[in-house]
Amino acid sequence: MAFIDDIKARAKADKKTIVLPESMDKRTYDAAEKILKEGIANIVIIGTPEEIAANGAGYDISGAVIVDPFNDPNKQKYIDKFVELRASKGVTPEAAQEQMEKDYMYYACLMCKCGDADGVVSGACHSTGNTIRPALQLLKTKAGISSVSGFFLMEVPDCQYGEDGLFVFADCAVMPEVDAEKMAEVAALSAESFESFVGKKAKVAMLSFSTKGSAKHDNVTKVADAAAIAKEKYPDIDVDGELQLDAALVPSVAELKAPGSAVAGHANTLVFPSLEAGNIGYKLVQRLAKANAYGPILQGLSYPVNDLSRGCYADDIVGVVAMTAVQAQK
Ligand code: ACO
Repeated sequence: MAFIDDIKARAKADKKTIVLPESMDKRTYDAAEKILKEGIANIVIIGTPEEIAANGAGYDISGAVIVDPFNDPNKQKYIDKFVELRASKGVTPEAAQEQMEKDYMYYACLMCKCGDADGVVSGACHSTGNTIRPALQLLKTKAGISSVSGFFLMEVPDCQYGEDGLFVFADCAVMPEVDAEKMAEVAALSAESFESFVGKKAKVAMLSFSTKGSAKHDNVTKVADAAAIAKEKYPDIDVDGELQLDAALVPSVAELKAPGSAVAGHANTLVFPSLEAGNIGYKLVQRLAKANAYGPILQGLSYPVNDLSRGCYADDIVGVVAMTAVQAQK
């Protein structure tokens, strides 16, 4: 079974409620129709009657719940919650209301926080920063986690590496700067994400331009330190580094460059040393190897909120909603 079919089957087995706040984009309705027809999730669309009429015409979204942010009986509850969460940042009831009406992503996050929804998918027509900032501000990290990061589940066709071509790549989406501690946490979260979505043991490579001291540079030291921290702090994870990409993936190269490593040559979870490397790396594999890139899926948040590429198709939204619903089942 293809990866995404398996995820859809898991989503259908225990249906969750996912909010789509981008009522200004036709792909939202196309995706909602498909999700409802396939029974992948319950759908909430946030939008005014005018927005729904202008953009949703011709799509059957009769099974969706429509929340009008200007005329919603639950609105005061969300304003109160917003103020409770952000009063220390100077948010007043008036400012909360204005923000929720201007940016439906805030509305969607507050629905989760108040228990009226299980997750959010947005970003078809908003930047990554604008999509995830409300979630970082309102929903915050899971207990014990310091930073949210973003991964792609990569499905590479005709590939003998990773788990028959399945990989997690992280952080490809969120943190412009990572130190060794943060990189170690990304390794732990990514291992959990791989195991949850793929159902196999993660083998985590901490990537660099050096393998086991072959080059000397502060950037190499950072990755080696991150691997050491991850090994000590998360002893149940199979993690190693610093490793070059070929040493991480290819057994014959691993034998030469990192003999004795349980991860080198078998890695299925790749942790990149910077957002540049991660973001460029996933796009290279997506475009040149014609891989499916599902994500960015956020890890470490207290509720599942996921981003989309602005170039996405309705089917991509369906896939990310299914993954969000599976995250919500936990
Ligand atoms: N984990 C947890 N909390 C965080 C994180 C994080 N990684 N980053 C920021 N926060 C928190 C802050 O502590 C702050 O909390 P507070 O308001 O309660 O004090 C809140 O989020 C806002 O933080 P700021 O630093 O003020 O927000 P900023 O405007 O910098 O936004 C963001 C953070 C959006 C993550 C920013 O770092 C960013 O834009 N990252 C890059 C996103 C991107 O462009 N990715 C590449 C494209 S993705 C793709 O190609 C598919």
